[in-house]
Amino acid sequence: MLRSKSATVASQALPPAVIEQKWDAPTIPPAPPVAPDHDETTEGWQRPAEMPSAAIEAEHAEEPLKIPANLRPKDRPPESQNTVPFWPARGMFVDSDNHFPVADPVVHAAKLAFVRDMKPDLWINLGDLLDFWLASRFPKEAQRMFGQYGARLQEEIDAARSYVEAVCSVVKQGHFIPGNHEKRHEKLIDANPSLYGLRALGWKQILQYPDKFIVHPYGTRLRINKAPLYCVHGDTLVPDRVVSPSQYVLQQRVNQTTLFGHTHKASTAYRTGYDENREPIVHAAINTGHGSLVGEQTYAGPEPNWQHAFCYVEFFEIEGKGRFTTHLIHIIDGRFSWNGTLYDGRKWQ
Ligand SMILES: [Fe+2]
Ligand SMILES: [Fe+2]
Repeated sequence: MLRSKSATVASQALPPAVIEQKWDAPTIPPAPPVAPDHDETTEGWQRPAEMPSAAIEAEHAEEPLKIPANLRPKDRPPESQNTVPFWPARGMFVDSDNHFPVADPVVHAAKLAFVRDMKPDLWINLGDLLDFWLASRFPKEAQRMFGQYGARLQEEIDAARSYVEAVCSVVKQGHFIPGNHEKRHEKLIDANPSLYGLRALGWKQILQYPDKFIVHPYGTRLRINKAPLYCVHGDTLVPDRVVSPSQYVLQQRVNQTTLFGHTHKASTAYRTGYDENREPIVHAAINTGHGSLVGEQTYAGPEPNWQHAFCYVEFFEIEGKGRFTTHLIHIIDGRFSWNGTLYDGRKWQ
C-alpha cells in the first residue's frame, strides 16, 4: 500500500528513523540510492520515496517510445546528400509539386514568363513534378481514368516535357529531387525486384528530358554550393497533419535554410542561428507551395488549404562566405508582381 498524501506531508517533519517505522512496506523492489532531483540546499525536498526514478524506469524499460501513427513519417530512407557544383551568381528558380498532367497551365505560363525575364543560372524542382496517379495505391476514379488529363504514365511524363524543356533552355542546370509521387515508380520496381538496376528503367531513360536536367535519388538533400541552403522534397521530413510545416522543419533543421515542397502550403518561418564563424545569422524554412490544378486533386477535398507559389533566390558573397536572399512569390489567380512587372499567366495561354 502506498502512503497517502497527508502522511507524506506529516512525515516531512519527522526525523528519518521515525519515518522508516511509519512507512508501509513498498510494493516495488527497493531501488538503489537516487540522487535528489532538486537542489539539496532547498529544505531537502526530494523525489517522493514511493516512486523512485529507478522504479519508474524499470516499469517502462520494455516499452519502446510510442509515437502516434499519424505523426510518423511514412518512408524514411537514408538521406543522400548532393551539392550543386557551381555558384549560381545569376539566381535560382525553385518550384515544386507541379503534378503534371494536372498542373495549372496559367500558373506555369506565369512562372515561365518570369524565368525567361530573370534568366537564372539554376533551376531546382523539389519533386512531385509528375503525378504518377495510375501507379498510386489509392482508388482510381473512372472520371480521371478516361478524362482529359490521361492516366498512362507515358502521358504524364510527356505532359511535363514542354515545361521542363522551356526552363532548361534558360538555365545552366536543372536539378530534380524526386518526391513521393515519383517514388511510386520505384515502388513498381520494388514489387518486381528482378527489374532493379535495369538502365532502361532509370529516370534518365524513362523521362528523356534534356541532359542538363539532373535527377537525384529519392530522398536527396541538395546543398546549393557553399551557401548554408538546402533543398528537399519534404515527405521524409514532415509528418502528416503538422499544423505549421515551416515551423516544424525549422526545428528539425537548425543552422541552415531549407527549401521544401510536399505540403503545398506556401509559408515561411525564421529563426536566428549561427554562421561559420559563430556570428548570428537568420535561417529559414520555406515551403514553396504547389502548381497543380486544385480541382483535379480530389483526394484533398474541394477546398484544400494550398497555395500556388514558387521561390526565387538571389546570391551574393560576403568575405568569401556564400549568402543569399530568398523571395517566396505567391501566385494568386494566376498573377503576381515582381519588380514593377505584372506576370499574368492568362496572357500567355
Ligand atoms: Fe505534392
Ligand atoms: Fe509530395
